[in-house]
Amino acid sequence: MNNIKIAVVGLGTVGSNVVKSIESLNKSNKVNQKIQFEIIGISAKSKSKKRIIDINKYKWFDDPIDLFNFNFDVLIELIGTEKGISYNLIKKALNQNINVITANKALLAKYGNELFTIAKNNEVKLLFEAAVAGGIPIINLLKNSIFLNRINHISGILNGTTNFILSQMEKNNCTFDESLKLASEKGYAEQDPTNDIEGIDSAYKITLLSSLCYGIEINHNFSNYSGINNFDIEDIKYAKKLGYKIKLISESMLIDDQIYIDTSPKLINENHSLARVEGVLNAINIKTDHLKSLFIEGEGAGGKATSSSIIADLYELITSKKDSKLDSSLSNLKNIKSYDKNSLKRAYYFRILVKDQPGVLSKVTSILTSKNISIQTILQLNEEKINDKVPIILKTYETFEKNIQETINIISNENFIENKIVTLTIHN
Ligand code: HSE
Repeated sequence: MNNIKIAVVGLGTVGSNVVKSIESLNKSNKVNQKIQFEIIGISAKSKSKKRIIDINKYKWFDDPIDLFNFNFDVLIELIGTEKGISYNLIKKALNQNINVITANKALLAKYGNELFTIAKNNEVKLLFEAAVAGGIPIINLLKNSIFLNRINHISGILNGTTNFILSQMEKNNCTFDESLKLASEKGYAEQDPTNDIEGIDSAYKITLLSSLCYGIEINHNFSNYSGINNFDIEDIKYAKKLGYKIKLISESMLIDDQIYIDTSPKLINENHSLARVEGVLNAINIKTDHLKSLFIEGEGAGGKATSSSIIADLYELITSKKDSKLDSSLSNLKNIKSYDKNSLKRAYYFRILVKDQPGVLSKVTSILTSKNISIQTILQLNEEKINDKVPIILKTYETFEKNIQETINIISNENFIENKIVTLTIHN
């Protein structure tokens, strides 16, 4: 490929930045002068929307399917629908031996196995650096630099919006709703932030990372998740008293040849590298048989940062050979089972609002003892007492989730309980 013909579909913040980046590639002395990038056509929902690029320089397609009446080498898909038009365009391109670059994590998490198989059979590439953690080159790092390491554990903050919200709640004492509103005003949150705040966006991303880390088929059903919607500022405050922060952490590991994948808000020691990741940044921590701890942090969203990953994929396209690393990293994938999360031992944080009366504390501790749960720290926060109701904060040693659920069921039925019991896992 010397003259690389590109079609760009989807011209939101990311798409417009990608066109701008491609324009500057042709002037870069770092690209072999024999190679020219040519945008043969663009398409988006609205032609009249204000953009940072002059769309009149390019051939416009109201219907992106019409692009296939022309020859091109690469489809850059930035529409981002979970199925529908994004799926149709990507599949059509791969079936016509056209390479695809996409940022569409939802689509790959759900239909990745099928689409990567088509790409492999047709000897074209389906590249997705921009789908996980925006501008952080995590895909390239996993499939090239440390591909032959045995990965023991991967964890990360993979969603900028929720990290901004949690940081805002912690630093400025804002409620969840106030912080979400600010995230929208600053343009960090998507128009519909449901996928972000419910943990779905992060769950898609850790599904994709897990496939690369462990050489397993993409199976989004294995990705457990819960989000931070309506998260209570109290827990951030109390976690701080125990020396922890609360972050939406995605993680995955192989246990007994089965895969455990989880995204949930967790307490994390304030000295852990992930705990120090603030605002809209993303970060990833990887532990391998060769590397005790590899940590990478950067912009996880935004037009310019995400565009950096798209042009990294373009670079991979022009530099890689057909039978390249990507083909080996996304073929021969193992079909394995999901690890039963009830078998996993973790330490937990509890917040219980109780009537301040004699015998309550001993009742709580005896219920925990009856479920074989050992308490590491217990705090009764008298300074937070309102109308004879006082919060009790507990940190347990590692125990099974099943024991925690049973404990919640028993304590919830006690008449000294004044509110819903909050439990969160503690990241280790
Ligand atoms: N909305 C995501 C975030 C970026 O806030 O990190 C795209 O996945």
